[in-house]
Amino acid sequence: MFSKISSLAFAGALALIAFAAAPVSAASNVGPEKCQECHRAEHGVWEGTAHFTSFRSVHKHKDAKAIAEASGGDKSLRRNDTCQTCHTTEVGGKPKAGPSCESCHGAASAWLPIHNDLGGPTVKPGDEAPAHKAKRLADAKKAGMIHSSMLYDIAENCNGCHTMQNVDAAMAGKLIDAGHPINGNYELVAYSQGTVRHRFYPPDITKNQEMNKAELARMFLTGHAVGLVYATKGAAASSNATYKAAMDKRIASATAAIGAVKGKVGPAGALLSSPTEANARKFVDAIQGEDLSGAVGGMLPKKYK
Ligand code: HEC
Ligand code: HEC
Ligand code: HEC
Ligand code: HEC
Repeated sequence: MFSKISSLAFAGALALIAFAAAPVSAASNVGPEKCQECHRAEHGVWEGTAHFTSFRSVHKHKDAKAIAEASGGDKSLRRNDTCQTCHTTEVGGKPKAGPSCESCHGAASAWLPIHNDLGGPTVKPGDEAPAHKAKRLADAKKAGMIHSSMLYDIAENCNGCHTMQNVDAAMAGKLIDAGHPINGNYELVAYSQGTVRHRFYPPDITKNQEMNKAELARMFLTGHAVGLVYATKGAAASSNATYKAAMDKRIASATAAIGAVKGKVGPAGALLSSPTEANARKFVDAIQGEDLSGAVGGMLPKKYK
């Protein structure tokens, strides 16, 4: 998924410069098997998620056909463009997997060559020159990589699918009326720290590490900051009662979470009174390195998906 704001701004700028110019080719997926060549552990975790397993089963779900019909497109989820927006990873124009690495980390055709260039064919990851690494990371991000450190941006991708904003509000409403689920209790810690968790960070890259309390609190608040922006936008754009009720539930839990740190985090007040992306990013910047587990620890989910 591409960052909507920047790609729109980019497209707008291009339109001003050159009307007749050929469209810039968008980044495309390389597919999870490419990432597996180097990231076996992360791929192994992904294979245990609903994102992976659903590729073999979701089109056979009892409601799949009715939902696909309601979209107005192909009756088969696998051939239906609307469903593929969220349910599959397309490689070379064909659905090859469920939601996968690039659904969260960004389509990699443009950033992968940069990511893989450590400064020479014999350079090992640990031996890369620090200046080279810094430039490589910056260049990869410019080319669309959503790095693990960019939690706000990753959480936006989760919301594109889990808040159903990768399609317009009218389409989301049609799918929901035909039985498509929309979960008002979606919350980032619960959804990311169970089956989805892959944290093979140094120093022990053999171990899938759990987050400590401070990290969990930041993840929780980041998820709610992004969620507040999406749910507010979603509720305003939709006339579907089921969807609006789910969004209202998310707005209520996000408001409680962010409200709990209002006295401690400066930008919390502005985010609550005006839930824009700019205010949410300021809030998330302000919590970096902070331990807010005292304020929100009691709200953290006890069970993970
Ligand atoms: C040729 C090997 C190779 C391939 C292929 C590869 N990676 Fe990596 N990746 C690495 C190495 C080595 C690192 C650690 C050094 C660094 O931070 O770049 C890394 C780091 C990362 C990180 C940051 C990890 C951190 O420390 O936070 C992410 C995210 C990532 N890769 C995602 C991917 C995805 C997604 C794909 C497939 C589209 C992919 N990589 C393909 C070798 C590879
Ligand atoms: C905007 C993103 C999006 C679109 C478009 C979308 N889905 Fe989904 N779908 C999801 C998400 C996210 C879930 C999981 C919801 C949850 O568990 O909270 C899901 C779940 C489902 C389920 C339930 C699966 C289960 O295991 O219970 C079915 C069936 C389904 N979708 C069918 C479809 C069909 C058919 C289409 C195309 C007409 C479609 N979806 C389009 C995001 C989407
Ligand atoms: C559902 C979204 C999602 C999917 C799918 C996903 N990632 Fe990630 N990835 C994340 C998030 C979120 C983090 C940050 C985790 C953290 O810091 O706690 C992350 C962190 C990472 C890291 C750094 C941590 C580590 O394990 O070294 C790497 C590397 C990585 N992902 C690679 C991949 C690869 C390769 C795939 C596919 C096999 C993949 N990811 C699939 C969301 C995702
Ligand atoms: C490209 C769309 C997409 C993205 C991005 C995405 N998901 Fe999903 N996710 C889905 C779909 C579709 C399903 C439902 C699969 C099924 O059951 O058929 C799902 C299911 C899940 C489930 C299983 C839910 C359950 O009730 O069992 C979890 C957990 C989950 N996603 C977490 C995440 C998190 C966390 C992120 C971001 C870090 C994320 N997802 C990003 C589309 C996406």
